[in-house]
Amino acid sequence: MSSLRFLPLITAVLTAPLFAAAQNGEQLYTQFCSACHAVDGKGANNGMFPPLAGSSWLQDMPKRAVAIVLFGLHGPIEVNGKSYNLEMPPQGAALTDDQIVSILNYVNSSWGNKGETVPRDLIRVTRSEFAARTEPWTAPELLKLFPLPIQKTVLSDLTSRVYKGQWNQIPDFDKIQAENIEEEHHGKISPSISGMDVHFGIVWEGNFMAPENAEYEFALDSDDGARITLNDQVVCEVKGTGPMNGSRAIQNKITLKEGKNTFRMDYFQGTGLKGLELKWKKSGDKAWNWLSDKPTPVKKESPSIPLSPTDESTAIYRNFIEGTTARGIGFGFPGDLNLVYSADNLAPELVWTGEFMDAGRHWTNRGQGNQPPSGVNVIKLTKDRFLPAEARFKGYSLDSKGNPTFHVSIGKQVLSDSWKPGKEGTLLRTLTLTGGPELNIPLGNATVAGAESATLAPGKPVTLTYLLK
Ligand code: HEC
Repeated sequence: MSSLRFLPLITAVLTAPLFAAAQNGEQLYTQFCSACHAVDGKGANNGMFPPLAGSSWLQDMPKRAVAIVLFGLHGPIEVNGKSYNLEMPPQGAALTDDQIVSILNYVNSSWGNKGETVPRDLIRVTRSEFAARTEPWTAPELLKLFPLPIQKTVLSDLTSRVYKGQWNQIPDFDKIQAENIEEEHHGKISPSISGMDVHFGIVWEGNFMAPENAEYEFALDSDDGARITLNDQVVCEVKGTGPMNGSRAIQNKITLKEGKNTFRMDYFQGTGLKGLELKWKKSGDKAWNWLSDKPTPVKKESPSIPLSPTDESTAIYRNFIEGTTARGIGFGFPGDLNLVYSADNLAPELVWTGEFMDAGRHWTNRGQGNQPPSGVNVIKLTKDRFLPAEARFKGYSLDSKGNPTFHVSIGKQVLSDSWKPGKEGTLLRTLTLTGGPELNIPLGNATVAGAESATLAPGKPVTLTYLLK
């Protein structure tokens, strides 16, 4: 009887640290990732942002995810069959190694994910391996370094034969000498061969592994002609030459037996654009399965993605901002106070009140001009570089609430420029100079004291109050 009495105590002791660690990961995830990837991991804004639940980018190599978290990601990417073209800001400066480990281990064991445990050293190793990186990754860069596990289609033992020639309908390829034969391990059909844009043909052959005895539907569209044959029976044929815009697309049904069915696709390209779309489904199913690349969706108007700080944390925006230089970094503080610091001019350049920024343009389309501040009372503080020529931007750090300190080296001196929200519509700026002679700094015309410049003595921080409203 006495041993029973201790049992609850022992279990409590054993589970407490584990539970605390798991909670920590969840809390950190909520704080640093869920704004974009959603609390349920399915992607914020109804899936406008990519999911982490079930994402193949989290499979196999934990280093891939570590690299993404540290340096961010931008440009076109496919996640679980859906295309995105957004921007994930780097998180490496804001998070410690331990925090990243907790977050990724939480992500890898949530929402059905079964990712590998992330070793703590991996963060340090990845930070130093890519220490020279200044830009977020692109998906192709990541795929080269950290290939995804091969996703296979129902096409097995697929090979392709490439032919050269000019035709205006599908020729009898079996009577022509092929230029090249390849194995297609991904089971995907694609007419993109580098260096070949016109006057060529391809024949793919392999097995369509039908999941069960059933009737199947196929849909084919192409530029120019294409034909699919299953078990020696023509199922769909897009005849002659013409564009791939749906006007010539062919859809048809065929009954297949479970397992191997011989598959063949003949394709030729004359002049102009090339393209191929092939998908299949079991009759009655809703979703299509793609055997070619999915058509890339036509670009839409940028959606509106207003960025705003939370009560706990300052928001950050790092794309082209109207009214400042290319390397302007925007901060939206709680209390409707906003700042842009120019890493080119090494100075605060804009302050304003009200809304911070709308990230829709830059997070969905890159390089499309400057986005103006969303708020009001935009004040231009400085427009020129005033520090000595040897001054260099050394980056910024964030405190636990996301408030920035910008670091500038001037020869052997270091100037730190910290900003945080103050009382009643004010921003507090603390300038700290380390080493060297005194330095005079223009302040812009928004300080409460009305001072236009301040003289900094080494080791004596000066705090200034900027009144924004
Ligand atoms: C400000 C929004 C934002 C935040 C915060 C953010 N991400 Fe992302 N993340 C994105 C976007 C947008 C992409 C896709 C980028 C693209 O289109 O190239 C992405 C892509 C990813 C990917 C690869 C694609 C996928 O869906 O699997 C991973 C993994 C990822 N993020 C993990 C994280 C983790 C972990 C955190 C928190 C530490 C985080 N992200 C924080 C916006 C964000």
